[in-house]
Amino acid sequence: MTILIDQPELVGEEEKKVLVEENGLVLDGGFLAPETNSFGQTFRAYDAESQRQAGVENFYRINHISQTYDFVQRMREDYGKLDKVEMSIWDCCELLNDVVDESDPDLDEPQIEHLLQTAEAIRKDYPNEDWLHLTGLIHDLGKVLLHPSFGELRQWAVVGDTYPLGCAFDESIVHHKYFKENPDYHNPAYNTKYGVYSEGCGLNNVLMSWGHDDYMYLVAKENGTTLPSASLFIIRYHSFYSLHKSGSYKHLMNEEDAENLKWLQIFNKYDLYSKSKVRIDVEKVKPYYLALIEKYFPAKLRW
Ligand SMILES: [Fe+2]
Ligand SMILES: [Fe+2]
Repeated sequence: MTILIDQPELVGEEEKKVLVEENGLVLDGGFLAPETNSFGQTFRAYDAESQRQAGVENFYRINHISQTYDFVQRMREDYGKLDKVEMSIWDCCELLNDVVDESDPDLDEPQIEHLLQTAEAIRKDYPNEDWLHLTGLIHDLGKVLLHPSFGELRQWAVVGDTYPLGCAFDESIVHHKYFKENPDYHNPAYNTKYGVYSEGCGLNNVLMSWGHDDYMYLVAKENGTTLPSASLFIIRYHSFYSLHKSGSYKHLMNEEDAENLKWLQIFNKYDLYSKSKVRIDVEKVKPYYLALIEKYFPAKLRW
């Protein structure tokens, strides 16, 4: 269970809320997240008036209609072959600069900046968790699915919030109303609380909507990364907002998921925070990250 406590000493006269788990794990490494993004608006303000709102809503309409159980199975089978490209993790960071994420109402910068901002912010607060720094750097690399060498998938099949298929769509999912046009919504095998799953079956057995999260998880795992389970969990579920923000679908989690979720909640603050204007000198930090990549990955990966 998560409780809110006041920790005024962290920020001088201004009081600050810090999330603390019952087991004492502090979910916030003492850093103060800014309240607004690069456009001066509140983070993830899907309902706020914004220039992008119509575009983002239309994105979710298509996403919710098109992500079905069958579609995801086909995508996992195809992209699970990892026969598209061979390249290093750093090559992929550079390749990602060519793509734009239309679903994100907060981000308007080259992707490599977002990756390094996330990683560097984590590094500052958790200096000893080098695996978490690298997780920050690589968590969005699956967005290369948008690139022509990866079949140039449509935005709705790459980015945006993710959610389970094969059971009822929870109402906490952003723009839930559009699921009414998804064929799975009307399929009795898929539209109950448990659907094809059972209590505590573990998220590893749950089919998630297809996108950059699950793809990067497959790439890391199949290329034999030595990153810990919490890292793979963060990569795979960082867009699963109905779980880590709203607490839905917990009935499908097992004990290992519950442990890993604590790290995902830490990570998520940095993922959002880094979408503000903090410039990073790429060349200066590059040697540190190249060493981490060498520690946890082979020199070349199959994508
Ligand atoms: Fe992401
Ligand atoms: Fe991200």
